[in-house]
Amino acid sequence: MKIFIDTADLNEIRRAARAGLIDGVTTNPSLMAKVVGEANVADYMKEVSDAVDGPVSLEVLAQDTQGMVSQGRDLAKIGDNVVIKVPLTEDGLVACKQLRASGIGVNVTLCFSPSQALLAAKAGATFISPFVGRLDDISHQGMELIAQIREIYDNYGFDTEILVASIRHPLHFVDAAMIGADIATVPPAVLWRLLSHPLTDRGVEAFLKDWEKAELRVPTMQETRS
Ligand code: G3P
Repeated sequence: MKIFIDTADLNEIRRAARAGLIDGVTTNPSLMAKVVGEANVADYMKEVSDAVDGPVSLEVLAQDTQGMVSQGRDLAKIGDNVVIKVPLTEDGLVACKQLRASGIGVNVTLCFSPSQALLAAKAGATFISPFVGRLDDISHQGMELIAQIREIYDNYGFDTEILVASIRHPLHFVDAAMIGADIATVPPAVLWRLLSHPLTDRGVEAFLKDWEKAELRVPTMQETRS
């Protein structure tokens, strides 16, 4: 399963990319609004697209097809790795078709049902973004939607990639991988939690203590070669 980071925070994106943990980035207007501040928005987006070797989703704000296509074409000029995020509406699906016809990658976002996901795949979406956390919030099983979409896409051989979004905790991530989602997009706080385990920390601490207790030193390069 590929891992994307779900943030527009450049420090977090660069840190995760340096650690080799991520295959791409997803943003949305809310995430952008949190971090852009006084910066020029297009310049900021360019920095995000340069920060990672993989797809970077940038979302349109227009709600009509023409506006989405025009904004999408402009955003796509920011970098070769830019993918345009459009909402799962009638206008969004038409925009998806048109952008795909001109060779631009499209992430259809705000998906909450299997029928929506099927229609997005038929419109040629590169990625479908079902929001699991927001479904859980209203007492639905977000992960059930991922399993349904997986089955439907496999039934018909759609190559739209399932990008699990609105991930709130490590269990969402593990469930996405168990179901066979293509990608999980993970907020930074969850990404770092995926990595850490108290038993790992305790183990490292105990190894070092035992080594010091025995008053050993680390062998030099020369010693290890002989
Ligand atoms: O990628 C979409 C995601 O950012 C939405 O997450 O936590 O706002 O539902 P959330």
